[in-house]
Amino acid sequence: MKANDTATTVGKINPDVLTFTEGKDPVLDLALAEVDCIGTAAHVTMLSRMDYMPVLFTEEQRIAVLKGLKEIIAEARRGEFTITAADQDVHLAVERRLTERLGDLGKKVHTCRSRNDQVAVDIRLHVRNELNDLTTELAELARALIEFARRHADIPLVGRTHLQPAMPSSVGMWASAYGEMLLDDAYLLEAAAKTNNLCPLGSAAGYGVPLPINRQLTSDLLAFERPHHNVFYASCARGKDEAVLLSACSQIMLSLSRLAEDLILFSMPEFRYFTLPRELCTGSSIMPQKYNPDVLELIRAKAGLLVGYATSANVILKAMPGGYNRDLQDTKELYMEGLRVTRTSLRIMKLMADNLTVNPEACRAAFAEPGVFATDRALELVAGGMPFRDAYHQVRDHLEDLRGMDPDAVIAKKTHLGGTAGINYDGLLERADALAASAQAARQKVEDAVRELFAPAD
Ligand code: ARG
Repeated sequence: MKANDTATTVGKINPDVLTFTEGKDPVLDLALAEVDCIGTAAHVTMLSRMDYMPVLFTEEQRIAVLKGLKEIIAEARRGEFTITAADQDVHLAVERRLTERLGDLGKKVHTCRSRNDQVAVDIRLHVRNELNDLTTELAELARALIEFARRHADIPLVGRTHLQPAMPSSVGMWASAYGEMLLDDAYLLEAAAKTNNLCPLGSAAGYGVPLPINRQLTSDLLAFERPHHNVFYASCARGKDEAVLLSACSQIMLSLSRLAEDLILFSMPEFRYFTLPRELCTGSSIMPQKYNPDVLELIRAKAGLLVGYATSANVILKAMPGGYNRDLQDTKELYMEGLRVTRTSLRIMKLMADNLTVNPEACRAAFAEPGVFATDRALELVAGGMPFRDAYHQVRDHLEDLRGMDPDAVIAKKTHLGGTAGINYDGLLERADALAASAQAARQKVEDAVRELFAPAD
């Protein structure tokens, strides 16, 4: 059978063109099989409730479609759902499978929609699930870092600017800073989740349909916050959504990359502030003594990949005309890879945070060089009434007098908000827990909506 002989393939297409245009869709789209069925279930449910003659789907027909879709979902979960070259993508594959099961009824599911709004809704449903999981993973890593910070809150660490010793810091301050950074990165995820949580279904090819469809109902059935209003805008929003998501993910990866770099540096034998967990280090094929931080180096590299994916998505969008254009298909792999890489990185960094050890004596030994106390000493003189600039010069001219100052005493003095002795670890942990709880609530809402949608087919 020739590739373009099936019922669902439109027109006669040169096989090389077909291969080129389908790209990686037959593989990538497998991740969308379940959500494609969910989107179709909502669409058909909406069509069945339309006040329209002739009736598009009777209740009986709707239930038959729901049952067919449920079976396809089960097939996909078993890894048995396939997308053939003739299908091109998941949308035509699901329609073909439904038609094989239901005959003419399967041919009706594409009424009032296009693959353009179908793929857009699939991606949004997929991203929504992935974002909930990613947010949970981010909250778990933030929690692990903040707990690590609290466990080692009072161990002094040389604080650095320009990588040179600057002022006394603490392990607690260092680690919880990265925890807090991730919690703030979650604001970007929330923004990405918000623009993602809009329903494009019913925009069809991007210009709506001449039948009285109920786009609000479809959106409600899928537990979206609301439908996109203007249908042309709904079709323009594809790609932008993925670019926003990738930009949020690249910020997370940049946070992880800086954490990774600190860890590589501070676990070097020359520093030895931290010891990386042995089981997370890799050896050398020739040098028997080696335990290398490959994991952390790969995190740094993957931050670069994410910035690249985000840039690629933006560049694909730049000067692309309004409405659907096939360029958009190439944003699919970017967002899928971006999510996969970010999620894997969050999980591996949690393993690192859970198993990292601190060497307090090495941390304290780094304070032998007295310059690191200079600013604190100058401010002590200020507290005694000396103008700051005079104190600055006096300390600079007598740096040796600072030798032997006690870093523990110095870090205990910074009791102001966010200082070494003023970090609210419990407050940060509460933020991490609230974030995890919000992701769980969002996940539950989606699960409930999907269960309700398919309930008639039980
Ligand atoms: N696989 C296509 C994509 O990801 C689906 C939409 C195809 N639409 C079209 N008008 N050719 O963009």
